[in-house]
Amino acid sequence: MNAIFLGPPGAGKGTQAERISAEHDLAHLATGNLLRTAARQRTPMGLEAKRFMDAGDLVPDETLFGIVQEQIDAIGDRGVIFDGFPRNIAQAERLTSMMDEVGRQIDAAVLFVLEEDEAVRRISGRRQCSTCGHTFHVEFAPPPPGPTCVRGTCEIIQRDDDREEVVRDRQRVFREQTEPLVAFYEERGLLRRIDAQRPADDVTEHILAVLLDPA
Ligand code: AP5
Repeated sequence: MNAIFLGPPGAGKGTQAERISAEHDLAHLATGNLLRTAARQRTPMGLEAKRFMDAGDLVPDETLFGIVQEQIDAIGDRGVIFDGFPRNIAQAERLTSMMDEVGRQIDAAVLFVLEEDEAVRRISGRRQCSTCGHTFHVEFAPPPPGPTCVRGTCEIIQRDDDREEVVRDRQRVFREQTEPLVAFYEERGLLRRIDAQRPADDVTEHILAVLLDPA
């Protein structure tokens, strides 16, 4: 099973990709996490990417592929969830070619549907582990007391691009550059819509139903 999780900022893509990949032995390729790690490590590509991320813009495709190519090559035979990738038509076409080259295909593009106000509410309460990327929410999935993550001694932070003015820009970028992928995957018979407004456990159940019975 190779699936794309597609949807606006704060829709719950990362939360669902993390739990479903862990429970079903799938690789989880989250371009946002990869870019944040590169930025934290202060690699030249990471620092270049951070400029765009902090402004709410998409990282240019050449910078992005420089960072994700190795990860894609390393997936091996396992199924994969692509989380937040592809994000425009050029990336989608390139992903299709890359999958073709290794004799694989995308089985489903899962579109997370929710109202913009709910996405903003989720983002404003989001906290994240700076190392493993595990996501919390101050109201819906509270982090443990104190400054460290459940998985170790890493720090719990608020993302730099979760400021309200940047969130609005990210939503605009989603509408302008990423939403055309809905038609792209619909035309190929791969689009599956899920109601992302519901509680996280219900969303997981709905996604699994869709992925296990993709017809
Ligand atoms: P990225 O990290 O991918 O951010 P995003 O797509 O904007 O999505 P988010 O991480 O904000 O939200 P999510 O849908 O994963 O929601 P989450 O599960 O965290 O990208 C960041 C930046 O990197 C981009 O702006 C861009 O600059 C760059 N980038 C990344 N990929 C790129 C690409 N392919 N090309 C170019 N540039 C790229 O949930 C949000 C909150 O809600 C959490 O607190 C969670 O606990 C909570 N929550 C989740 N589900 C529920 C639920 N059902 N009910 C209540 N709360 C919930």
